[in-house]
Amino acid sequence: MPYIKRVGFNGRLAFAITAAALGSSFQHGYNTGVVNAPQRLIEEWISSVRFNRTGEEVEQSQVTMIWSIAVSIFCVGGMLGGCITGFVAERFGRKGGLLLNNILVALAAIFMGSAKAAASYEMIIVGRFLIGVNSGLNAGLAPMYLAEISPIHLRGAVGTVYQLVITISILISQILGLESVLGTERAWPALLAITAIPAIFQLATLPICPESPKFILNNRGKELEAQRALTWLRGTIEVHDEMDEMKNEVEAAKLVPKVTLREMLFNPALRIPLMISSMLMIAQQLSGINAVMFFSTKIFTMAQLVEEKAQYATLGMGTMNVFMTVVSLVLVERAGRKTLLLVGFSGMCLTTILLTICMAYVTQALWVSYLSILLVIVFVVMFATGPGSIPWFMVSELFNQSARPAATSFAVAINWTANFIVGLAFLPLQEIMGGYVFIIFSILQLIFVFFIWKKVPETKNKTMEEISSMFRQRSYQ
Ligand code: GLC
Repeated sequence: MPYIKRVGFNGRLAFAITAAALGSSFQHGYNTGVVNAPQRLIEEWISSVRFNRTGEEVEQSQVTMIWSIAVSIFCVGGMLGGCITGFVAERFGRKGGLLLNNILVALAAIFMGSAKAAASYEMIIVGRFLIGVNSGLNAGLAPMYLAEISPIHLRGAVGTVYQLVITISILISQILGLESVLGTERAWPALLAITAIPAIFQLATLPICPESPKFILNNRGKELEAQRALTWLRGTIEVHDEMDEMKNEVEAAKLVPKVTLREMLFNPALRIPLMISSMLMIAQQLSGINAVMFFSTKIFTMAQLVEEKAQYATLGMGTMNVFMTVVSLVLVERAGRKTLLLVGFSGMCLTTILLTICMAYVTQALWVSYLSILLVIVFVVMFATGPGSIPWFMVSELFNQSARPAATSFAVAINWTANFIVGLAFLPLQEIMGGYVFIIFSILQLIFVFFIWKKVPETKNKTMEEISSMFRQRSYQ
């Protein structure tokens, strides 16, 4: 690695990270978790709206159907947002794209917040779709901006902030959704509309921060402006080494024509990292994490816990998710990406095997029931060790400037597609297989462990140039 002065963390960088991550990952996490608690209340309201329109009682299955559409359309929006990330990142910039994306938040909050007053559940569906598109775009733009503004030795830690805010906002949504807070018949529209608050925060803070220096240099060709942005972010004018490194990356990118998705699929030096980043996204979702995030209360009741206690167990789980993500933020620059991914997925594999066994005997003794609950929490802790955060920023690490936007688009769209599939398939599979449903995840996790062990390179402390040349060499082998 060429010597680059280790410019440390400073207040401005922290400000830029907060402005970008808080405003964007909040939508992703909050809207993932917010549908969990008020499900019954909103379903009752949908029933009454239908009754008022038609004058006939509606069947519960129809109401559940409408609710399922409202829940899962979020991921459909996410897929679309992922697909257009590359275009938006190149056309408007990383910061520009993030700022513009707040228009979608405003629209979504209006639709969801006034659906009840307008007696239209269709407005909730439209709102969830719009916030999904917004979240899909955020999931590409924010990690890209974070990776591009961070000094090399902090890239992993800064990248982990995206996931950290997701876990915090899932926890916030679980707390606000409690009946004693906003999970009531009157307050649920506010619960859904609260998603607008972080957008206001972002609009007030992000304009103060600079655009990604790499974007300024590569796409706008403005060296002086890029240097100014870098100086702002590092809090020092001693940025020459890093500017040189950035120029090298940009020069290298100029040698290859603008990378399209088609090019990526046919050029082995690009196909390998594309396959790795896509597999990591698939692994993150098919690990089964959102089966637990969406349905934990139900899983805990399957483990013989009464509903009220199950809600608190869900809060405990959310808290552990946040806590462990903080730990992984420190670990990722020490142990490295690959080790944490391997530990995380192996741990998840082991816990799901044990959970399957426990579920089979859960009615036999109370301690088995408590052990199952503990295992679900350990499962989340293992996820937070690495599989939760690393896939989001690793795609930015595996590609240089010319291929990063297209690769990010592809990987993010794959993540949301896999998320959609798990959300849709888990409950029906669980009806058929009962507690044995977890065995599907164990098998998949084992495959992912093997894949990571064999294929994923360590990217810790490597420059983009070193990473790209590693793949060029591999493609000749
Ligand atoms: C990751 C996943 C997301 C999940 C969250 C849980 O961000 O992408 O789908 O809900 O982790 O912590």
